[in-house]
Amino acid sequence: MGFFQKAIASTKLRGFINILVFLLFCLNFSVSDAYDALDPDGNITVKWDIISWTSDGYIAVVTIFNFQKYRHIQAPGWKLGWTWAKQEVIWRMVGGQTTEQGDCSKFKGEIPHCCKKDPTVVDLLPGTPYNQQIANCCRGGVISSWVQDRGNAMSAFQITVGQAGTSNKTVRVPKKFTLKAPGPGYTCGPAKIVKQSKFIMPDKRRATQALMTWNITCTYSQFLAQKAPTCCVSLSSFYNDTIVNCPACTCGCRNSLIQPGTCVDLDSPHWASALSSSRKNIDTPLVRCTSHMCPIRVHWHVKLNYKEYWRVKITITNFNYRKNYTQWNLVAQHPNFDNLTQTFSFNYKALTSYGSINDTAMLWGVKYYNDLLMQAGPYGSVQSELLFQKDKTTFTFKEGWAFPRRIYFNGDDCVMPPPDAYPYLPSASSHMVIPICNLLTILTSLVLLVAYH
Ligand SMILES: *[C@@H]1O[C@H](CO)[C@@H](O)[C@H](O)[C@H]1NC(C)=O
Ligand SMILES: *[C@@H]1O[C@H](CO)[C@@H](O)[C@H](O)[C@H]1NC(C)=O
Ligand SMILES: *[C@@H]1O[C@H](CO)[C@@H](O)[C@H](O)[C@H]1NC(C)=O
Ligand SMILES: *[C@@H]1O[C@H](CO)[C@@H](O)[C@H](O)[C@H]1NC(C)=O
Ligand SMILES: *[C@@H]1O[C@H](CO)[C@@H](O)[C@H](O)[C@H]1NC(C)=O
Ligand SMILES: *[C@@H]1O[C@H](CO)[C@@H](O)[C@H](O)[C@H]1NC(C)=O
Ligand SMILES: *[C@@H]1O[C@H](CO)[C@@H](O)[C@H](O)[C@H]1NC(C)=O
Repeated sequence: MGFFQKAIASTKLRGFINILVFLLFCLNFSVSDAYDALDPDGNITVKWDIISWTSDGYIAVVTIFNFQKYRHIQAPGWKLGWTWAKQEVIWRMVGGQTTEQGDCSKFKGEIPHCCKKDPTVVDLLPGTPYNQQIANCCRGGVISSWVQDRGNAMSAFQITVGQAGTSNKTVRVPKKFTLKAPGPGYTCGPAKIVKQSKFIMPDKRRATQALMTWNITCTYSQFLAQKAPTCCVSLSSFYNDTIVNCPACTCGCRNSLIQPGTCVDLDSPHWASALSSSRKNIDTPLVRCTSHMCPIRVHWHVKLNYKEYWRVKITITNFNYRKNYTQWNLVAQHPNFDNLTQTFSFNYKALTSYGSINDTAMLWGVKYYNDLLMQAGPYGSVQSELLFQKDKTTFTFKEGWAFPRRIYFNGDDCVMPPPDAYPYLPSASSHMVIPICNLLTILTSLVLLVAYH
């Protein structure tokens, strides 16, 4: 086969591979809505331990464990709801409160904390008086992820329930649990009566146990949480001037003529007043006008090439004027993460979800230094550099290999540019068809190719 045919075949192959990669990408994207391959067992478990019986019910400690590797709950925090099976009321609560008391007009003497059939409980705020606290309460509903800060990956409150059963035969488990964090996204299963919890005393010389325990498991789905993505990825490299921006309209389309005020246009003379006048709804983002309209952009820049190592710079930019991201985290998938040598100014932990292949890393800010990603503006970005050691058998700058396969910000899948738009080496197969007879060009490309390895 002549050189010309070879070049054509390789372009065809390249096109085919691109289509294949793109199809896989699409497939991955839709599958990840229901099932998170990077954290297949991730869940939030609510454990309900009855610690004593009372004259008309029981006292229980309810603990919310976040068993998700990288998805955390940030301010304004979780909201746990359920529906009582009988006519239960909540007499008292410690370390938490219901959002509404409901109609307690039937009660004389002591008035219950809540008489609603379907109460919603929230955490208390930091600074709550000590006599209203229990262990792991009062963090304003904020729960860390399991990998980032295991010690703060739970939240608890104590509840005194009346008009309930007073033995494990007569108590009925509550139904229809809901967990908001604070928006939608979680689905909770039914409460299951499980083996009673054991509590080991601090001196480890005695263990007590709950009188009765039930568990509720809640799982997250990005699809339920919000239809539109919230984050996108842009790419660049030292070997090609092209900056591949986030795909247009990733998170919404800029259309300030039809809906003025949906984004902040820094070119408009009125942007400062637009910003201050639209402080109404904290939960809906107010983003800077961009082609992608995403609140968060993650930029991956292939920065330097050394003989044994190569270096990437990651920049996370907040385009949302209404949100500071506390304890943000990033999950990135790239085959070279098995040989990450150093990260600068971010914390790092390998996430091993496929047995021994650790191609996935979790990155998050250093406490008090860059763990707060400030609202859009001059301080609205954080950055870090990663140093990878090359594995000579797999390393290449070709075919977009140096770019990430997948990025999550705070557990949400970030939309990548389509693989065929990635910056590519100024040489290689796709350019070979035209300068085919120019030996000098081919030689130069070969030299470049070798130099970049
Ligand atoms: C919830 O997560 C924990 C910790 O990863 C795991 O042991 C448990 O099996 C999970 N529960 C469910 C129902 O998936
Ligand atoms: C209920 O209590 C009895 C002892 O009083 C115990 O044997 C039984 O295991 C308990 N059942 C549950 C579901 O906790
Ligand atoms: C119930 O939840 C607790 C806390 O997450 C866990 O330790 C326990 O294994 C769970 N029990 C069952 C049967 O899932
Ligand atoms: C973000 O934090 C800064 C500094 O703590 C504060 O001035 C600003 O108001 C906060 N912005 C939002 C949207 O909460
Ligand atoms: C990859 O995972 C293995 C097993 O968990 C671990 O021993 C190794 O240090 C990890 N490699 C890197 C670069 O983190
Ligand atoms: C890192 O790269 C070296 C050299 O290619 C290789 O021998 C080693 O197995 C790699 N380490 C890991 C953890 O993959
Ligand atoms: C850089 O990559 C882009 C694809 O994103 C390509 O169109 C362009 O030709 C490349 N530039 C050079 C100098 O090869």
